[in-house]
Amino acid sequence: MADMTLEEKIGQTAMRGTSSRVKGALPEALKQSVREGRAGAFLNVMNTDYVDELQRIAVEESASGIPLIFARDIIHGFKTIFPIPIGISATWDEEIARTAARISAIEGTSVGIRWTFAPMLDIARDSRWGRIAESVGEDPYLGSLMARGYVEGFQGNDLTDPTSMAACAKHFIGYGAAEGGRDYNTVVIHEPLLRNVYLPPFTAAVDAGALTFMSAFNEVNGMPATGNQFLLKQVLRDELAFNGFVVSDWNSVIEMVSHGVARDKKQAAELAAKAGLDMEMTSQAYEKNLKALVEEGKVSMEQLDFLVANILRVKLKMGLFDNPYRDKDRSAKFYQKEHLEASKDAAVKSMVLLKNEEEVLPVASGKKVALIGPLSDAPHEQLGTWTFDGEKDKSVTPLQAFKNAVYFAGHSNGMAYSRDTSESMYEEALALANSADVILFFGGEEAILSGEAHSRANIDLPGKQEKLIKKLAATGKPIVLVIMAGRPITITNIIDEVDAVLMAWHPGTMGGPALYEVLTGVQEPGGRLPVTWPKTAGQMPLYYNHKNTGRPADSSSFVHINDIPVGAWQSSLGNESHYIDAGFTPHFPFGYGLTYSDFRYTNINSSSPTMTVEETLEVSVEVTNTGDRQSSEVVQLYIRDLVGTLTRPVRELKDFKRVDLEAGETKTVSFQITKQDLAYVNHTMKTVVEPGDFEVWVGPNAMEGLKVAFELK
Ligand code: BGC
Repeated sequence: MADMTLEEKIGQTAMRGTSSRVKGALPEALKQSVREGRAGAFLNVMNTDYVDELQRIAVEESASGIPLIFARDIIHGFKTIFPIPIGISATWDEEIARTAARISAIEGTSVGIRWTFAPMLDIARDSRWGRIAESVGEDPYLGSLMARGYVEGFQGNDLTDPTSMAACAKHFIGYGAAEGGRDYNTVVIHEPLLRNVYLPPFTAAVDAGALTFMSAFNEVNGMPATGNQFLLKQVLRDELAFNGFVVSDWNSVIEMVSHGVARDKKQAAELAAKAGLDMEMTSQAYEKNLKALVEEGKVSMEQLDFLVANILRVKLKMGLFDNPYRDKDRSAKFYQKEHLEASKDAAVKSMVLLKNEEEVLPVASGKKVALIGPLSDAPHEQLGTWTFDGEKDKSVTPLQAFKNAVYFAGHSNGMAYSRDTSESMYEEALALANSADVILFFGGEEAILSGEAHSRANIDLPGKQEKLIKKLAATGKPIVLVIMAGRPITITNIIDEVDAVLMAWHPGTMGGPALYEVLTGVQEPGGRLPVTWPKTAGQMPLYYNHKNTGRPADSSSFVHINDIPVGAWQSSLGNESHYIDAGFTPHFPFGYGLTYSDFRYTNINSSSPTMTVEETLEVSVEVTNTGDRQSSEVVQLYIRDLVGTLTRPVRELKDFKRVDLEAGETKTVSFQITKQDLAYVNHTMKTVVEPGDFEVWVGPNAMEGLKVAFELK
């Protein structure tokens, strides 16, 4: 760094983009900017000749010879697409996140991408928010496990290995708490909430060695994250001891002008630099203003050196100085057999069975199924959001997976796409339904209806899907609703019309074969909900780890809107904190998911009625597979701290174990509770463990379970 000019230092903080569609020779101006050391990173350069040429110029022709780093959003697969991240979280298995990320890195690095803008670790409590599709779900504990899996998977065991891809924990922080689920919107999070709920997955990412972070678009309590000294300096650098670099989100530096904290781009650059924002994505406020800011003494050279050192440290750690080039001998390893197998396995394990009456699933052998619905053969849609490089031609749809099977009675889309309101195909679909034994309706949302900038106020099935389902149900044939969507879909209007509901998220390249195996019982659906499933969008935000309030909802005093006497005098009628129409329970709780078997929980036991902070308490329960097939259960442990200095959530997930059980088998499942499980950040902003009474549940989801209590002395 001592040899670098001011311009070269500023150059390192600049990330440039080229359009993936640029054809022909590289623009001379771009080459010249690299030659002059005016760029530190590129995003979205998808032409490998460009990658090689730009890197060659940086290393051989620029004065400093500092290598570039090439970035891309490789979110849930590069070519082989895995289920969307919320689906990966539904596996409750960090190993799946690790595998998906590793395979993404192997495929993506082969074209020179050594840095991905993933994982997204925003806790999301609102299904209206389109980016819930990309989130780790609503729970900080589950989200932290996923964070570790992704970071370790992308980066691999050796950062200098050509298949190691730098992870980027994003969006720091609070993006998932956008008001009303409206993307990019205002975020207000009090500090203990920030630390107890929103921060843990990011802490886990730092602990797992994440090389980079991305600042969020949003403000947090009045200050945009991109210029937020409290977040980027105090929390991230001082407290979490992060020593990688922070990149802005797309134009988020200059968006501080729209936010209204900077009068112009120059002041935006000053705010960002002073907060410790190391690299600017796409907008050029640093490039155009940092020199003047340094010369005017508004940004110190020491501050600029700090940013540049963070960037160079990452490039060094990744071995780019020693080996800047793409490994051309490694031919592109796309769609390897084991990649496709892993994608199918992830999809199977992500699918959540929400309803299964009369055991319509798995479809019995000898039955003939009619495949109907807008997602039954939609190769692009099943890939989901953020799949720039996924190829629909490689998707295997449910129709392709079923069409040669003995089960197959026929296919009729019924609707052209998920929002379709035409009824012109109904007749054909109904005729097919009448000829089959079971109807498999593949509905949900097209990929573009979730993801960035695609929030919805109404999260019912779009178009006329409900109408078609009702008509199909009227045939009297059993009907299975398979939902492929980027968010929980409210199905209150339709659930009684169908016999089974399977949430398949957007399952990725191998969605069809995974669905075939799950629907026909070759495999069980393995998923559990990583988010609370609402009855209606009006319940949002909705999450299981809420506070008790002074008037907690109570089913014994609840008065439904239809039971309120006409002319009733103004009074609470005994109502508590809930909606008089939608009540207070979700449609399905966090952690919920059926299997093709049943489980019974008995004999909860704790090793002692008391514990001290030095001690470990063991809580065990017996779980029996009462069904008639081998199955696996995700046994979940929740804790409630009954009295705190600050109010505490009614339950918090602290541990879980997946147990495999043969039909009729019983296993004892034990958990160790230590002080870490009882700690939280209170009003002093310190992590504390406060003595008093605690309750523990062990069960199949956040609303059920057996309970024991203990006292922390
Ligand atoms: C998104 C980021 C993404 C970036 C680069 C932004 O619009 O918010 O998540 O990494 O674009 O594509």
